[in-house]
Amino acid sequence: MEDFDPVDVAEAQDDEMTAPFRPDQIIYSRADERGIVIFGNTTFREISGYRWEDLIGAPHKLIRHPDMPKGVFWLFWDRLKQGLPVVAYVKNRTKVGKHYWALALVAPCPGGYLSIRIRPQDSSRDQMAGIYSELRARETKENLKPERSAELFLEKLKEIGHSDYETFMRCTLDMEMNARASEIGKMERTRQEALDSILKLAEDSDGYVNRMSEGFRNVRAEPINMRILSNRMEDGGAAISSISQNYEVMAADMGQELAALNADDGQAFRHIRQTVAAGHFSLQAADLAAEAARELVSMRGELTAIGADTDGELAIIEQFANHSRNRANDSLKTIGAHAERLSETCRRLRRRINGLDVVKLMCRVESGRRKNADDALGGIIDRLAKFHLEIDRNLASLGRCAGGMTRNVRACR
Ligand SMILES: Cc1cc2nc3c(=O)[nH]c(=O)nc-3n(C[C@H](O)[C@H](O)[C@H](O)COP(=O)(O)O)c2cc1C
Repeated sequence: MEDFDPVDVAEAQDDEMTAPFRPDQIIYSRADERGIVIFGNTTFREISGYRWEDLIGAPHKLIRHPDMPKGVFWLFWDRLKQGLPVVAYVKNRTKVGKHYWALALVAPCPGGYLSIRIRPQDSSRDQMAGIYSELRARETKENLKPERSAELFLEKLKEIGHSDYETFMRCTLDMEMNARASEIGKMERTRQEALDSILKLAEDSDGYVNRMSEGFRNVRAEPINMRILSNRMEDGGAAISSISQNYEVMAADMGQELAALNADDGQAFRHIRQTVAAGHFSLQAADLAAEAARELVSMRGELTAIGADTDGELAIIEQFANHSRNRANDSLKTIGAHAERLSETCRRLRRRINGLDVVKLMCRVESGRRKNADDALGGIIDRLAKFHLEIDRNLASLGRCAGGMTRNVRACR
């Protein structure tokens, strides 16, 4: 394996130094557990500028650019060794000392790892170039260990709005794939819109659940008010008192039912948002793999000529795509189950609110039966009527949200 000379990138003209990597291309390679190249597609060979005999059997480090911080590769391998996929911006060096940026999705596969790389947006590339250059400078100046540099990198990602590496990967892959798709005219809106709708519906349904929960908390005062009133009634107000008790018990049960929807400390929506993001990531990984496979088919001629097993490679990529689709399906199932739980709760609350309506009606009848019906009782009944109306509306909206989520989950499959 040949060593490369250091190149003063900063002094060179960008176009002179940049190896062309078109947005419609995909660079694919596969390595063993140590990162030794086992397979590469024609684009990998062409852009790197090496011959097949230089590439196959060489470590991927062959294309490492000196501007790449060690901390980034520390994170990269840390995830891979845990059996997790990793998405990272990489600046690579070609044989003649040019460079190209790629957004790489690297994932475990039988016997090692595969890497699918796309061309990133200029703006994100520039942002990452700035972050990497700062990190690289600190690595050198402070003689940082790769692990420490990785920590600093994560801190930097937090500063730009990504709470952890997982979030960074999901946002980045989504943003880059969408930008690329619109650039090359392959925008697939349906699924994107379905996922966006799920998020919006999950957020809205959280709002309805919270509003209803608050309503049930506030309405607790009314049965107490009823009992205070009933004590003041000439006949002891036994009927009103027992009506108030019924109402109290039924409303408390319904409040508990709603609270159960937010069982994880009101984190239901956060959980759904994460599940949608995870599902989306897996779907996009599957899409990329499918595209890499299609490209590979078109390169079969050259690959067969060098004795590469294209069919074997296609099977490996297909396996990764299937694995990603299965993971996406798991996420979609979780979201579907959440939507079903919402629908089920809506149906149960609907039946229970009918029961509560009856108790409220009994209260109205009892109030009417009394010749000197207390105005205060009328006030309570009016407030209950208003509360029931609000619950009715919120329940109807929540039911629509749940139905919409179920439909959108189906649209993603
Ligand atoms: C499938 C796969 C693809 C890789 N692709 C690249 C790459 O495009 N550029 C790169 O510099 N390193 C890549 N690496 C990481 C290298 O193996 C290596 O860790 C990195 O160049 C840093 O070198 P070092 O670990 O010796 O510091 C890849 C590794 C694997 C497993």
